[in-house]
Amino acid sequence: MKGKKTIPYGKQWINEADIEAAVRVLKSDFLTQGETVPEFERKFAAAVGAKNAAAVSSGTAALHIAYMLMELKPGDEIITTPITFAATANAALYTGAKPVFVDIDPETGLMDVNKIEAAVTPRTKIIVPVHYAGLPCDMKAIRDIADRRGLKVVEDACHALGAAIDGERIGSCKYSDAAVFSFHPVKHITTGEGGAVAMESLMLRRRAGNLRSHGIDRHFFADVPDSPCYHEMRFLGNNYRMTEISAALGVSQLDRLDDFLERRREIASLYRESFRGEEAFSMQPEPEGFRHAYHLFPLIFKTGEMRDKAYRILKDTGVICQIHYMPVNRHPYYENMGYSRGDTPLAYDFYRRELSIPIYPKMTESDAEFVVRSVKEAAEALI
Ligand SMILES: Cc1ncc(COP(=O)(O)O)c(C=O)c1O
Repeated sequence: MKGKKTIPYGKQWINEADIEAAVRVLKSDFLTQGETVPEFERKFAAAVGAKNAAAVSSGTAALHIAYMLMELKPGDEIITTPITFAATANAALYTGAKPVFVDIDPETGLMDVNKIEAAVTPRTKIIVPVHYAGLPCDMKAIRDIADRRGLKVVEDACHALGAAIDGERIGSCKYSDAAVFSFHPVKHITTGEGGAVAMESLMLRRRAGNLRSHGIDRHFFADVPDSPCYHEMRFLGNNYRMTEISAALGVSQLDRLDDFLERRREIASLYRESFRGEEAFSMQPEPEGFRHAYHLFPLIFKTGEMRDKAYRILKDTGVICQIHYMPVNRHPYYENMGYSRGDTPLAYDFYRRELSIPIYPKMTESDAEFVVRSVKEAAEALI
């Protein structure tokens, strides 16, 4: 018997051109460290308006490298939001630094810019705004605080490929020192697993290239008296390289980035239009000048009980939603370190009330309309 149709909250869109691009690499001599990763980097940098980009094996690797580029060290602190994927904070732990969580604005789910400055200590090194769901943070205000307090800014832009502030694309690093992206299958484009760090500085780009490859610099390859083909490692790096297969997929996916973004915006418009005036939940605002990339479409219910009920009703109809996010400081690992959900009560309350409904470019018109009908029916059952 055929199973009931389900609509997931997110999903990749792979076409024949993507498959051919990956197969071409598989038939070639280089599965890693060939010419396709640099091609992907050039094309990606152009797409986000970045001067330079380094492609790596995941968004998490990109965060770790970005923090290392900012010379984050044991004892240092980063300031970020608890409403994010754990990787934003975990990558700081990899360096021995400590994440400090600032509470959120309950309307947007973004880190509350007005609370950042009170969290700055002599150990603070980086502010890490997360463009939650694809809605950009107020980067001008964040840059202003960073400049006044002598801090770096790394954007976690894993949700925000295609987002912009006053026409300035996220990734151009106009207001930051680096911006980090993920190409996990639910993101705007996919490379299977993959990520990138965008930055203005060519020096940082070179260092990122070394950090993703054991701290070994290809420029140091040479014939020297004690060995031909000499190369040296000058600092501690990792193997965070992206494969050529992933990069080929990425190059092909980038051809359709504009179409993917357009389709996400169309679905978001349908949702916004259809849900206007709903009593049971609200939607993120889209303030003037802030272009949302709609990686997610969060509904923010009046109460946690309503959200839980809506989740179950929608699941029964085949609309599979997700919750973004359990606050990082509520994970047992962080609780065991002494963090508490009580430190950021608005983030905890947001987590209780949030529900991400399906949005992805491959969604058909009838899928999107089915989601609208199902959400409306669920909302009626709640009132
Ligand atoms: C906000 C955020 N930061 C970081 C990451 C980590 O990216 P990746 O899964 O590619 O390692 C993700 C991925 O889900 C994310 O959503």
